Amino acid sequence: MKLSTFILLSLIFAVLPISTRADEARFFPVKGMEFGVYYYPEHWPEDQWERDIQRISKLGFHFIHCAEFAWARLEPEEGRFDFAWLDRVVDLAGKNGLKVVMCTPSPCIPAWLATKHPEVLAMDNNGKRSHHDGGRLNGSLANPIYQKYAARIATEMAKHYGKDARISGWQIGNEPHIGCDEDYSPSAQEAFIGWLKNKYKTIESLNEAWGAAFWSFTLNDFSQLEMPSANPHAMLDFKTYTSEEIARDLIDQTRILRQHVNETQWITTNYAYYKGLPNVNPFLTRKDMDFASHTMYLTHNRMNSSGDSLAHRLGCGMELSFSTEVAKSVSGYTGIMELQPGQINWGRFNSMPLPGAVRMWIWHCFGMGERFVCTYRYRQPLYGLEQFHHGIMQTDGVSLSQGGQDYATAIGEIGEISKKLEPGAVNDFVRSTRTGFLWSNRNVIDIESYRHHQDWDTWQHIYTYYQGLKRMGVDVEFVTENDAYDPQRIPFLVVPAYQMMSMELVKKLESYASRGGHLIISTRSALKDQRGHLWEAKIQQPIWSLIGGEIEFYDHLPKERPGMVQYDGKNYPWHTWGTVVKPSPKTESWGFYDDQFYKGKSSVLHRKDGKGSVTYLGAWSDGWDMEYQILRRVYGQVIGKLPFDLPPYLFAHYREGLWVAVNYTDKVTPIPVPDSAEVILGERNLPPAGVLVWREKK
Ligand code: GAL
Repeated sequence: MKLSTFILLSLIFAVLPISTRADEARFFPVKGMEFGVYYYPEHWPEDQWERDIQRISKLGFHFIHCAEFAWARLEPEEGRFDFAWLDRVVDLAGKNGLKVVMCTPSPCIPAWLATKHPEVLAMDNNGKRSHHDGGRLNGSLANPIYQKYAARIATEMAKHYGKDARISGWQIGNEPHIGCDEDYSPSAQEAFIGWLKNKYKTIESLNEAWGAAFWSFTLNDFSQLEMPSANPHAMLDFKTYTSEEIARDLIDQTRILRQHVNETQWITTNYAYYKGLPNVNPFLTRKDMDFASHTMYLTHNRMNSSGDSLAHRLGCGMELSFSTEVAKSVSGYTGIMELQPGQINWGRFNSMPLPGAVRMWIWHCFGMGERFVCTYRYRQPLYGLEQFHHGIMQTDGVSLSQGGQDYATAIGEIGEISKKLEPGAVNDFVRSTRTGFLWSNRNVIDIESYRHHQDWDTWQHIYTYYQGLKRMGVDVEFVTENDAYDPQRIPFLVVPAYQMMSMELVKKLESYASRGGHLIISTRSALKDQRGHLWEAKIQQPIWSLIGGEIEFYDHLPKERPGMVQYDGKNYPWHTWGTVVKPSPKTESWGFYDDQFYKGKSSVLHRKDGKGSVTYLGAWSDGWDMEYQILRRVYGQVIGKLPFDLPPYLFAHYREGLWVAVNYTDKVTPIPVPDSAEVILGERNLPPAGVLVWREKK
């Protein structure tokens, strides 16, 4: 489908109802959480399928997940479809009381297609075309031939399985993204030019938006457009186009499935981690898919973790939390489609998870409200690119791995404890601290294209606030610029380094605070307009009235010579970014620079706006603690005493009447459970990898 047609259809579909919480109950009738496992029948002799599926069922799993990479088996030759083998698997699943999550196989283009039409494969930015070499996610999504064949296999699968009661839902593709990040093929170039024409209409407005006067980039005509790699505004557009192209591929397939599948079958995709794939925007499929699911591998040592002596075994719990809350924010509910069952094969190094860590991750997912936990994968593969990746079963196919045992334990515990859940139960603290978190992958892309200080890392800045919120035990809902910010529903809104802002967004934020919302906004916000241009105004001037002060300048320091910010009688070092602000008469100054030539000037402002408030943090503290203390003060002013002051990497979540706490650190840590509460599982002094479940007294 052409991108312009896609945009038109998106506008039409935008008025159609999106998935709702009512669908959640219909799709996931199991109280608590369902469990699933990836099973690749095409990797194993057929005479083992029955044995494997019986064991999966006996272990207490609810579903198997099949076919996402099996295009070559499903369509072994062009136009010849073979579902007989998969039918036998679905039969076995049904006989053993298991449902099936069916996947469209578009990430793995079969050899016959790649040979006949090499143009279906994406090209990297050196113009090198991918090969059919055993890799995946190498399709050129913009290529009409790829689109035709991907649509056809999806159609055939949907016709075949769309009315089958044993199929509970569908996953489109796998961890959507383009293997080489952006596609530089001629098909992509044509689609991108179409996208630009649709956006800018004339070459003059494109030249203006891209600041093409700079270094004679000026184009006379769209036909002169080369694929971008230098100009930052062109890159921002190219990456935004890429986000939309990835979404368009998912939406095309979703709409095909919708024509054939029963209403009982949900449609999702398994979004992979946003930090690694900034071009992917899960909110773009919000109106079409029923919900967004996600994947997380906690022990690959590439992401934030506690850094203590068990970090490599307990994993990056903050990232699991972030990933879950982003996915959940798309449609109000989510499930985790891939949660590792043990050692993986692609980390910087691949430690064994601590015995019990996998169980803790599953409980963490439960606490955060996931509707299912599905694990990658049942059997450890004996060949191929992921040979050392652990499964629920060891290499013999019949002995439980350590992680498999953890799964079995968690499945039993959660099945039992879920009987105590009270669907619909609301907790006052959770309700009154629900926090919106303004999110846009475009903003991350723009800042990351030019950090201005070598130590600036947008993700770490975002985590400074996210981690602080988790330490207070509040629920976070990621919101986009287009959402409504209702202070009744989200009484707090955090806006970290939102560099590109439209005036409409500034007005929305002003209105949010004046209607009683509590806005926390950080440095670098509103430095630029939505095209990525600096404002022809003073620095960050569009938010001066919002924050109640004037920004004088920003400064940066060498790491080895940090400056100090004084907040509440304590000094906090900073070095990456500090804005110096002058408060307006009615604005309180909460933080001051304690050195440099601007000693005594403000770094943190706070102003009341009726029942609402706006807090601006101009400096980013090195240890993130100043931000945490300020968050506590803002929340404390509104709701009084805060129940949690958790160390980083301890989490507490409320789910339908139960509290769940988990410990990703190497220290036994007391959890502030009221004496009157009933402890249902675990101990108040929570050990590493420990799980504590309690219920408050009514
Ligand atoms: C995921 C991917 C899976 C599998 C897994 C291995 O990112 O979606 O297909 O490759 O990694 O850990």
